[in-house]
Amino acid sequence: MGEIIPAPWGGYIVTSYALCDQVLRDKAWSVPDAGWRTSNSTRWNSPASQQMAASLPMLNPPQHTLERRSLGGLFPHNSLAALRPSVERAVDRLLTEFTDQLRLGPVNFHGVVSEELPVMAIGEWMAIPASDYGLLRDLTHDQVFAQELFPTPSQLALSDSATMQLRLYFSELIRDRRKRPGSDPISRWLRTWDAQEPDRHRADRAVHDLALFMILAALETTSHVLSTAVRLLLQFPDHLEPLRHDPDLIPAAVDEVLRYDAPIHMISRIASTDTQLGEFVVPAGEMVQLMVGAAHHDPDRYPEPHRFSLLRGGSHLAFGAGIHYCAGNALARLEAVTLLTALLSLPMRLHLSGPPQWAPRVAFRRITSLPISLA
Ligand code: HEM
Repeated sequence: MGEIIPAPWGGYIVTSYALCDQVLRDKAWSVPDAGWRTSNSTRWNSPASQQMAASLPMLNPPQHTLERRSLGGLFPHNSLAALRPSVERAVDRLLTEFTDQLRLGPVNFHGVVSEELPVMAIGEWMAIPASDYGLLRDLTHDQVFAQELFPTPSQLALSDSATMQLRLYFSELIRDRRKRPGSDPISRWLRTWDAQEPDRHRADRAVHDLALFMILAALETTSHVLSTAVRLLLQFPDHLEPLRHDPDLIPAAVDEVLRYDAPIHMISRIASTDTQLGEFVVPAGEMVQLMVGAAHHDPDRYPEPHRFSLLRGGSHLAFGAGIHYCAGNALARLEAVTLLTALLSLPMRLHLSGPPQWAPRVAFRRITSLPISLA
């Protein structure tokens, strides 16, 4: 229908790679922050939506610059190297569980492995007790509804309720870290905020919002990549031997998975002033939905876009672009590479024993079941 299309519900849908990339990198576009939300429909004023407005990807400069800086280098080389053994241990444990169950019949890989690894990785990094992982995972599934294109009233209610519980959880966690500071990132962010913000309450609030968003950002997205990688490799098995033979190709395979079926299919931006985009002038304050999934299959950017190819190389928009580029991409990549490396070296052959199931969503992809059995 075109690279930019007026949306029937207002605003515009952007489908080409070139325009999505341009909007993400151009400072003329802002994110739908708290100010924009309060001056728009009640859809944007629910507690869940307001919580998102307090999170890093929904802040505009200069607030965004200040908060992004407060994170420090989130996963510099040395801290990623320190995390690697714990991710390897988690993968080892989960694959042992998976292969044990596999001997008895088909296993939902998504439930047993992909849903678990991201919460174990970020949970250990943030020093969250393992007994809380299940709760945080369930609350995240519900919270994400507020970020969908057309959430139903009951989905919004679930999202609001999950938001309230997450707020309570993280308020308690911050209180605890104040009492018992450690070397974990939450304690580190508290120290950074104390040095720049004289009001203790505001410092706590900033770290609360950062920590809460980290959990929301890290779970479903990474789970989707893990299961999608396995699904695509089993659907296009020609790639399995080259990857087993040369594990150095695994990072490129992960990038091709991220291109082929990105976890986030839609990113929103607002025109700061009347702005020409393709053949339209988008009025100031109007929203554009960047359809990342479509951009990743744009034939002008990717020849034969529906072909899954390890040799494609090149960049993609799965982690966004510009000032909001994903701060946790290195952790997500580490998990995916570690899992694929271990899975490809298993002394057994796997196959998809049934069609994968997806939750009916537009913005945030969510596989609910990936049945796998021994070949
Ligand atoms: C495959 C997994 C992941 C995907 C596909 C993903 C995708 C994205 C995207 C598209 C954005 C930009 C949103 C926008 O421009 O509006 C983003 C931002 C962000 N992500 Fe991720 N993410 C992933 C994993 C993670 C993880 C594991 C963490 C934390 C450990 C994380 C933390 C963040 C943060 C803090 C931001 C906000 C950056 C900013 O606004 O400056 N993400 N992510």
